[in-house]
Amino acid sequence: MEKESLLYIIVVGPAPKADRSVIEATVRALDMEVCFRDDIHDTALAPARGTPAGYLSYLPCSRAGIVDAFSSFPVGAGQDIPFYQHLDEKEIPPGMAALPVSGFFHSPLTAVQAHGMAGCMARLSILLSQNHSLVKEVARYRKERNQLIAIGTSLSSEKYLDKLLALILSETRDVVGADAGSIYVREHVPSGDLWTNRLLFKVAQNDSVNMTEKAKEIPIPITDNTISGYVALMGEPLLIDDVYKLDTLVPYSWSKGFDKRFNYRTKSMLTVPLKNMAGEVVGVLQLMNKKKDPRQKLGSPAAISQNVAPFSHSDEDFVRSIGSFAAVSIERVQLYQEIEDIFEGFLSSSAAAIDERDRVTSGHSLRVAEYAMALVDAINAETEGPFGSINFSEERKRQFKFAAYLHDIGKIGVPEALLTKESKLSDASLVALESRGDYIKTMISWKGAGADLPWKSVQELDDDVAFIRSISKAGFLPDDGVKRLEALRAKRFRPAGGEPRALCSDAEWEQLSIRKGNLTDKERDLINSHAVATRRILTKIPWTRELREIPYIASHHHEKLDGSGYPDRLKESDINLECRILAVVDIYEALVSQDRPYKPRMPVAKAVEILRSEAKARRLDAGVVEFFVAKGIHQLFVKE
Ligand SMILES: [Fe+2]
Ligand SMILES: [Fe+2]
Repeated sequence: MEKESLLYIIVVGPAPKADRSVIEATVRALDMEVCFRDDIHDTALAPARGTPAGYLSYLPCSRAGIVDAFSSFPVGAGQDIPFYQHLDEKEIPPGMAALPVSGFFHSPLTAVQAHGMAGCMARLSILLSQNHSLVKEVARYRKERNQLIAIGTSLSSEKYLDKLLALILSETRDVVGADAGSIYVREHVPSGDLWTNRLLFKVAQNDSVNMTEKAKEIPIPITDNTISGYVALMGEPLLIDDVYKLDTLVPYSWSKGFDKRFNYRTKSMLTVPLKNMAGEVVGVLQLMNKKKDPRQKLGSPAAISQNVAPFSHSDEDFVRSIGSFAAVSIERVQLYQEIEDIFEGFLSSSAAAIDERDRVTSGHSLRVAEYAMALVDAINAETEGPFGSINFSEERKRQFKFAAYLHDIGKIGVPEALLTKESKLSDASLVALESRGDYIKTMISWKGAGADLPWKSVQELDDDVAFIRSISKAGFLPDDGVKRLEALRAKRFRPAGGEPRALCSDAEWEQLSIRKGNLTDKERDLINSHAVATRRILTKIPWTRELREIPYIASHHHEKLDGSGYPDRLKESDINLECRILAVVDIYEALVSQDRPYKPRMPVAKAVEILRSEAKARRLDAGVVEFFVAKGIHQLFVKE
């Protein structure tokens, strides 16, 4: 078998027989080898590997000869490698000082001289190799430091927990060459009146197993039954060379369930607690199967067994360092997430509270937001067509979601009576009308008694009152209805000694004359002013840079592509995609939401027809409408 590090010297040129014997004996005594070469270009006798410890040259001592000799030496030769030159004369030829020659010698060579030269070569060689390993060690530390800085930088810029955990795991696995790994995050959960800690299995990666499904978030108690629980409990890393051969004395065990299911073989394992600045464990990082060759794919369980090495203590040190970064980042992201959840909860409850003022619109804004988010997800999944190149980032999606929650917040300034108005005349007006009718009926039954009455009988009056009641509820007033109403308005009655009066007040006549719906122009303007109020309210909030478009998106949900919308009658080019989507889902939700007292819930097909006709008239975006329908998002809450 070859020696691990072979120390040898090369003798070039015609060494006398006696010198050869002395050299051989000396070199052997120093546990080295020697290789004689008559010709400097002859490499046939050189040992298979390694750079020689030095050279003894019996070549004629001339400047040209020595330069020629150096040019043929292996890489690494030259000034670093001792070179002793044989001299025939007493004088050293001129110009030798400029060449990397360590010393000169004469024949016959004595054992003392040979020992001096070979010993010097051996010592220098050992020093060089120590120096080399130190340089390698420094280079490794530098590399690890740079990797840590790079990982720390990327971890500090990540805002979402799932992405952060995936990043921590992939970066760590990459550095130590682990085939697989998982991260568990500690969470506080209520347990009766108390709070308890447990680990939640959050993310798993495995280069050898194709895991298409996302890892299930399985809760694991912090006890010493499992390896991750044990590490979280103890707060110290755990190195295991083979999890199938655990010591019988350890409290934890390893389940082979995953291996059996995916035909895998988990062998070496490094489990490290992720500790925050206060030294508390916020999670556990587990690495599996350190690959002997990081580029290699581990194959069958048998191949895995062979191609996997134990994790080293230097791996442990490195992962511990990453663990500190990771723990701080996890806590930061969790805090960020909590603030964000609180904020979102606040916004959605505010929206829900406003919608609650009218039982018909209850839940409207939340459903609008859900339709909008479903549409955005579908757009993000699209790879071709008009939406193929559009991708909503997490931040843009969040901004849109909040804008959808808040789009009708301006309704807070619209009187509740108007929001819930279900007929032209209010209940109070109808009661007053009824009383006036009873009064007139009394006069009719007294046969006039000095009063001037346009109704000849109680029946005639009852018919007119019933007519007023019916048009008060109707959604549409036809031409003959308008005629009868005008005739009725002209009817005046005058009690004895009193002034002529009409059955209804001027304001009531105005209400009753509404041809479509039950709102007057003034009332409609007041309701429409909610878009301006939405903007006024939302621009007062100091949004972050990522949410700054919320007032614009939310307040323009009634803009139309043909410029007929409100509040700003925006041109098509100024209506962004979010506003277009919001316009479509807002109308659709209002149409199909729920039964109203005076009109039943609209069938989905009819609502889609309306969206399409609005798109055809260039009021709604046809692309958005068709995509909304094609992806089935319109059936999110209502199925037919
Ligand atoms: Fe609105
Ligand atoms: Fe709305």
